[in-house]
Amino acid sequence: MCGILGYIGNQSKTVDVLLQGLTRLEYRGYDSSGIAIIQDGRARVFKSKGKLSKLKTKVKKHSPKGLLGIGHTRWATHGDASQKNAHPHVSGGTSVVHNGIIENYLELKNELKKKGFKFYSDTDTEVIAHLIEDTIEGGLCFEDAARAAFERIEGSYAIAVISDKDPDKVIATRKFSPLILAIGDHENYLASDVPAILPFSRKVIYLEDGDVAVLERDTISITDIDGKHVSRDVQEINWDPISAEKCGYRHFMMKEIFEQPRAVLDTMRGRFSEETGDVYFEGLDASLFKNVNRIVALACGTSYHASLIGKYMIEKIAKVSVEVDIASEFRYRKPILDNKTLAIAVSQSGETADTSEALLEAKGRGATTLCITNVMMSKIARDADGVIYTHAGPEIGVASTKAFTTQLIAFYLFAIYLGRIKKQLTKKQSIEMIKEAISIPQLIEITLKLDGRIKELAKEFFKYRNFLYLGRGINHPIAFEGALKLKEISYIHAEGYAAGEMKHGPIALIDEDMPVVLIAPGDGVTYKKILGNLQEVRARRGKVIFLTSDPGAQELQGIVDKVIEVPDSSYLLSPIISIIPLQLLAYHIATYKGTDVDQPRNLAKVVTVE
Ligand code: G6P
Repeated sequence: MCGILGYIGNQSKTVDVLLQGLTRLEYRGYDSSGIAIIQDGRARVFKSKGKLSKLKTKVKKHSPKGLLGIGHTRWATHGDASQKNAHPHVSGGTSVVHNGIIENYLELKNELKKKGFKFYSDTDTEVIAHLIEDTIEGGLCFEDAARAAFERIEGSYAIAVISDKDPDKVIATRKFSPLILAIGDHENYLASDVPAILPFSRKVIYLEDGDVAVLERDTISITDIDGKHVSRDVQEINWDPISAEKCGYRHFMMKEIFEQPRAVLDTMRGRFSEETGDVYFEGLDASLFKNVNRIVALACGTSYHASLIGKYMIEKIAKVSVEVDIASEFRYRKPILDNKTLAIAVSQSGETADTSEALLEAKGRGATTLCITNVMMSKIARDADGVIYTHAGPEIGVASTKAFTTQLIAFYLFAIYLGRIKKQLTKKQSIEMIKEAISIPQLIEITLKLDGRIKELAKEFFKYRNFLYLGRGINHPIAFEGALKLKEISYIHAEGYAAGEMKHGPIALIDEDMPVVLIAPGDGVTYKKILGNLQEVRARRGKVIFLTSDPGAQELQGIVDKVIEVPDSSYLLSPIISIIPLQLLAYHIATYKGTDVDQPRNLAKVVTVE
């Protein structure tokens, strides 16, 4: 997730608007930043690796001046965090900033290389600049050339472009990535989100997918890709600057919960073919996995819970045995590994000390290493033999939400990938599994609609002092994760258990003061067993919140206290759906209790100590 910005208007303001706006967008990524300003008919481009302060120093030293400019703060997805990969990317007189992923960039890159274009970065974005320049050279005006380029790219994007051939326009478009326009007095703005422009304007237009906007000093025109005029409302924003950073949500955690459909989609994007059933991971060498006959997954906290679910997925799909270890335990127990073992380190931040050391321990003992991480070129990403990036975007809330669901979809795709290498899956089976994955972002959207109902439920339950979460099969780690979310942000004691273990201890705790969350997607065998657990809890007067995809469960009203009905999904993907209401439940209980949701006491987002 990157942040983009554009401005046209007043020469004395351009630099200030871009740098101030980027400061407010820096939370979206701080691997590098850059701006381009058209001065005396030519683009002046400034870029810096690392924090924005470095760019500010550079720009102040050269004091560029111009009526218009674009800016970018980067969260690396294609190509490492370096100056050459920083935006804007330039081709001839065209400068481009982009947030998102261009799925067909390799195909376009090869085509443009054949035409003689030289590539200076490893990014997917650079193809956009060359595509536009190519068409301008072919005789089209800037606006038509931009439109022609937008028509050729596939994937998710918010893009802003300027050209020294037409230095009175900023052109922008979006698809699956956010982009807003803002109207000023003889000046106009564009940005990835509202806070970036809030000090300058409160009149905002939300662009929709496929819109193309042309910003001039005194006008904004919005069309579809074919140039047909579309009308978009101007909205007056009355948020204060802090809530604006959270896009209107009270907390980053809630914003991130609601970002999950997009985050899961971005993590899948460009990684499979629906026709062949193949799965690809950029930069991953399939030969690494040919001899693998055993896997150990190493992680901490929420990433550990994702790994427990990953075990189910890999064993079921690829038929390779998986052990899951808590990284801090694995490090010190002299694990037995050989060169046929694959160690997978799973870490949102890629910097957790225990996970990082566990990965090195595995490597030292001869295992092949892979990591699943959200942060490009993080320590774990640098140390592992192979990397699978989740594309959740920066996660700011301490309680992990979107990082978890993107780790699950990454595990699922990896299981198919490995299953194909190990010849455990037919083409037909993998096509079917990919189809199931494609439906997930929409099922998450539907599940998020439960928010109002869960808030009511939280109001009834927030005064309890203990909770028990029970799940079975692939959803038993969801009991752990649901309980962890509640503990982390509401400070209520909560325990997660495999439901079958209830009779071996936790049952002694059950009475009318103990709400029990039963996670029971309507999947054949384990569902029937969990109905048995339900009766056991009821017999001891425990309060039951019953989470299920079984529409028939409404009949259990009277036996259970509350039913949360989630949409049905395939068994292996059901944890991605069942965790959503539990994230919301923890969130609303915490807000009723008035705790600090985004920065709960004693916890840290990244734990770089043992
Ligand atoms: C901390 C965070 C947790 C996270 C864990 C592992 O404890 O508070 O939310 O799950 O670290 O972090 P990682 O970045 O390795 O996934």
